[in-house]
Amino acid sequence: MPLFPRAVSAYAEVVPAPALHLAHKPASHSHVEAAALPVVGLTAWQGLVDLGGVSEGDRVLVHGGGGGVGHVAIQIAKAFGAHVIATPSGSKRECVEGVGADEVIDYKAVDFTDAVRDIDVALDTIGGDAAERSLEVLRPGGHFMTAIAETRSSSPRTRRPACASAASPSTPAGSPCEVSPNLSNRAGSPRRPTSEGTG
Ligand SMILES: NC(=O)c1ccc[n+]([C@@H]2O[C@H](COP(=O)([O-])OP(=O)(O)OC[C@H]3O[C@@H](n4cnc5c(N)ncnc54)[C@H](OP(=O)(O)O)[C@@H]3O)[C@@H](O)[C@H]2O)c1
Repeated sequence: MPLFPRAVSAYAEVVPAPALHLAHKPASHSHVEAAALPVVGLTAWQGLVDLGGVSEGDRVLVHGGGGGVGHVAIQIAKAFGAHVIATPSGSKRECVEGVGADEVIDYKAVDFTDAVRDIDVALDTIGGDAAERSLEVLRPGGHFMTAIAETRSSSPRTRRPACASAASPSTPAGSPCEVSPNLSNRAGSPRRPTSEGTG
């Protein structure tokens, strides 16, 4: 994906981009559906795969699992064979379970530090004190990544690992789960998105 939006003036009708930044749109996806995926998908991929090194059997914690980045992160982690724990609000439980989360913690009702332990990879999409508190539930040697440029934490340990602070992509209107390209595997064959309200 070309650097969006400034570097290539991506709101223009025609933009130049290095071929390496481009990929074919799956035939199964409309242009709108396909356009919903790259920024959230790359953010989640960078955090979990490139930096977090997620692998089969890992216990993965996705903060904000019902959000734009979070609901794609769940699917990527599942595609790698991880056990995924997500923290959406209660209203998003069905959506988050629908994209594959093994455990769902309603962050409005339960403090995740009381509910999970031994996390191999944690991905933060909410900021605040999530970084510092996530360290309490990581196993020794576990990885914490954040998509948030700045956290409230004053600890150098939790300020450093920002994985995707670039851009401020906009998630399409409506619930992210309504526009989710459902990644069924990591070989590049996402299932057709369950797209509603994207037209
Ligand atoms: N979207 C991107 O492509 C992208 C790329 C790079 C960086 N980022 C950054 O990543 C962050 C998230 O982006 P997004 O597009 O995923 O936002 P989003 O769609 O608004 O999702 C954020 C989610 O966080 C949840 N949440 C809020 N407080 C929470 C808490 N205390 N515990 C657990 N979950 C909580 C919300 O859940 P409820 O609605 O259920 O309350 C919401 O679903 C933003 O700061 C953004 O700047 C995003």
